[in-house]
Amino acid sequence: QRGTLILGIESSCDETAVALYGDDGLAGHALHSQVALHADYGGVVPELASRDHIRKITPLIETVCDSARRAEITGIAYTRGPGLVGALLVGSAVASGLGMSLGVPVLGVHHMEGHLLSPLLEDAAPAFPYTALLVSGGHTLLVAVEGVGAYRVLGKSIDDAVGEAFDKAAKMLGLGYPGGPALAALAEQGDPGAYDFPRPMTKRPGLDFSFSGLKTAVMLAIKACDGTPQVHADIAASFQQAVIDTLVIKCRRAMRDSATGRLVVAGGVGANQALRDRLGAAGTTDGFALYYPRQAFCTDNAAMIALAGWLRRGDFMPGIAAAQATARW
Ligand code: KG4
Ligand code: ZN
Repeated sequence: QRGTLILGIESSCDETAVALYGDDGLAGHALHSQVALHADYGGVVPELASRDHIRKITPLIETVCDSARRAEITGIAYTRGPGLVGALLVGSAVASGLGMSLGVPVLGVHHMEGHLLSPLLEDAAPAFPYTALLVSGGHTLLVAVEGVGAYRVLGKSIDDAVGEAFDKAAKMLGLGYPGGPALAALAEQGDPGAYDFPRPMTKRPGLDFSFSGLKTAVMLAIKACDGTPQVHADIAASFQQAVIDTLVIKCRRAMRDSATGRLVVAGGVGANQALRDRLGAAGTTDGFALYYPRQAFCTDNAAMIALAGWLRRGDFMPGIAAAQATARW
């Protein structure tokens, strides 16, 4: 009997990525980052992103699987959204075309479902059910995960996403794009207690987040400061501390309510070491285990999309050009 081998394609923003996931686990992955392409503009330029996805996607597919391997593919999973429309179209068109030529079904996967399942790429994978903190450039979500496709949103940001707040604060501090990693690096040089930035919405019950007020507080602090490198580092450290405090408070609250005993942190901001350390310490105190994917699978990648496709192999519909994995958020 032929095993399952899923080709995963991710092109929702500024990474072009391809991966293979089969019955023995991850069987290859490759990624091209467009960071250098967008750096001069201080952010992602959608049209440049689409064009670069077109240039890179076929060579990446050839890197991950030669023609013999391609013949073994049993299904293709691609990111159907959310993301930049033109960028997404490249992945969906390539997936559909390749699916037709190989004669295999195609499945559109929700990008956040990929992030949600990404810790399952690791040897130390969490069992179901688990609670997930998803923190990326576009989303801030606390999700109850019962199993594949069974997700319930417990809380979300009512305005900016955490990654967006990192990127905006970084921009105000004159750091390059993408701002998150640069701000985290600068924070290491600063005093996290120097500024008392707000911990938004932690005083009221519930699991929703808000980060736009924090952004304003950072802007006012920057305007009022003397602009020396040390003060900028102090602002970065205090900002990061406020964000992490807020996330940790809500996660502890969610873990007290849910009793899954397993917390997952994933998405680009999940790569933040200080956040991981603090959540790990909270878990030690409160008695829950923390799981996360390796740093490279926190940020956008196709391994998580191929994995989601493999886990949803029952949802592929032969003869239908592109089925969609239904996950409600
Ligand atoms: O998941 P991701 O790669 O793309 C989206 O789906 O949005 O997340 C990107 C976000 C960006 O906002 C980036 O600044 C942030 O994740 N990020 C970080 C770190 N690494 C990436 N934020 C804080 N600390 C980091 N180490
Ligand atoms: Zn993402």
